[in-house]
Order: sequence, then structure tokens, then C-alpha cells
Amino acid sequence: MHCPERYVKNNGIQQREAKDALTAYIEKMVWTSNEMVLDIGCGPGDVTSDILYPFLKNKIKQLIGVDKSVEMVEYAKNSFGRSDMNFKALDIENTNDCDSSYSRGFNKIFSFFCFHWIHNKFDSLLNMHLMLKSGGEILINFLLINPLVELYKFMDEEWQQYIKDVKQMSQDSFSKDDLREMFIKAGFRIINMESSVKTYTYPDYSSCLDAVRAVDDMYSNLPQHLHDRYAIHVSDTIREKQMVEICPNTGEIILKYLPITVHAVKD
Ligand SMILES: C[S@@+](CC[C@H](N)C(=O)[O-])C[C@H]1O[C@@H](n2cnc3c(N)ncnc32)[C@H](O)[C@@H]1O
Repeated sequence: MHCPERYVKNNGIQQREAKDALTAYIEKMVWTSNEMVLDIGCGPGDVTSDILYPFLKNKIKQLIGVDKSVEMVEYAKNSFGRSDMNFKALDIENTNDCDSSYSRGFNKIFSFFCFHWIHNKFDSLLNMHLMLKSGGEILINFLLINPLVELYKFMDEEWQQYIKDVKQMSQDSFSKDDLREMFIKAGFRIINMESSVKTYTYPDYSSCLDAVRAVDDMYSNLPQHLHDRYAIHVSDTIREKQMVEICPNTGEIILKYLPITVHAVKD
């Protein structure tokens, strides 16, 4: 995800999920004053600033959003940076960076719609544990099944060579029990782990395709002259494999997805 301008126009589902998770969990967390808070995989910063920050008012000293994409972090800094909200580049899979800059630095760690993109989930959880103060809490909301990875699996051979890392990602499908075990092994005590099946409705097919494109890193791997043909293949594949439901009367597009929220503590 390297195009923040495209992402902020097409992240309705991400905004709704962050709002839902925060509404359900913020009061279940134990708060003191002047807390240090981290948002991992903050993307362009709109969810951090417009959704997370209002839930944290009067509770925090500083909110730091981090993302491995430098483009996202620059956009977030320029659009939303201020004295108590800052944005920095950080790969949560990189233990050296997490350790040297942020070890035991945070009271709370949030992460929205990022964990399903992370390759080395266990190391990332160890790094989150490392960055929390003792008694600190995490709230992580992500997808049990990454729809983009599902889409890549269906793609014609021609495109497979451009799909970096997909082989690894597609092997990484975790059940709720696997995830529970992983969090516990990383040192967390799980307070709540909740998954559900939800739907999101796009007004038409092109809005749905715009949302897919906003998170599809294939465009940065593909030569420019193949972009249009790839976009057509994506559109055809989603229809053929019935990855969404098309309402015959309204033309609205219904996407079924499986979010999971984990609230855990470092004792
Ligand atoms: C779908 S966006 C979510 C952005 C924002 N949290 C939201 O809810 O709209 C996922 C973000 O996770 C970031 N990301 C993926 N892997 C990461 C990693 N290993 N470390 C830090 N950020 C990562 C991506 O660069 C991307 O900006």
C-alpha cells in the first residue's frame, strides 16, 4: 500500500471496523493519565487521527502512528502531525528497530486492518510485547482471511510471477485457535478474542474495485503498460469466482468478511 491519496478515498470498511472495535473495547481497557499509545500499520493516518485519537482524548501524552510504508508515513505526518500525535516509519517485523527505539515505551498498542498483511506474525507479536510497558494492553483488529490473498490465488499463471510473497502469505492461514496460541506464546494474556462474519455494501462494482486497488500492492510490482490489463483481470476474477455478491435490483456489491479483534495484556 503505497498510494495514500487513493487509500483515504477508499477505506470505508477500515474506518467502520476501527470505530466498531474502539466502541466495543475502549472502556474495557484500564486507563491512567499521560499514556503513551502506539498505532501499528497506521497507513495514511486518517483512522489514527479521525477515529482513534478522539477515543483517547484526555488519556494520552502522545499517540505515535507507525507504518512500514514511507509514503504513508510522510502523508500522515503532513496531514495530521501535531505535538501530541506523530508518525514514524517502522516495520513491526524488525526486532532491532522496535527494540532500539521503543522498548517498553507504550501503555497501549492499537492496530487496525494491518495484522493480516504481516508475514511474520509471531515475531511481530514478540515485538509488540517488547514495546509495551508492564501492565500494557493491545487491541488488534484484523481479518482472519485476507481477501487479496484469496484473489491472488485465483489469478492466471501470467500474473503469478508478479505476486511477491503471496506463496508465503497463502500458507499463513490461521484458525482462531492457532492465533490464540500464538498470542499466548508471545507472552500475552488474552482478555477477549472475538471474531464474526460481517458484510460491507459498496454502491456499485467500480467502488468495490477502487477499494481493492487501494490495497493491492501488485501495481507497484507490475510494469506500467500492464496496469490496465491487470485491472480487467482482477475485475473478471472477482466476478467469475463470485468473491462478492451483486444485488440484481440495485447493482450494490456486498462483500462478506471475517474480522477478528484481540484484546490482550502484558502482565
Ligand atoms: C490496510 S492498511 C490499514 C491502515 C489503517 N490502520 C486503517 O485502518 O485504515 C494496512 C497498513 O499496514 C501497513 N503494514 C503492513 N505490514 C506492516 C509491517 N510489517 N509493519 C508496519 N506496517 C505494516 C501497510 O503499509 C499499510 O499501510
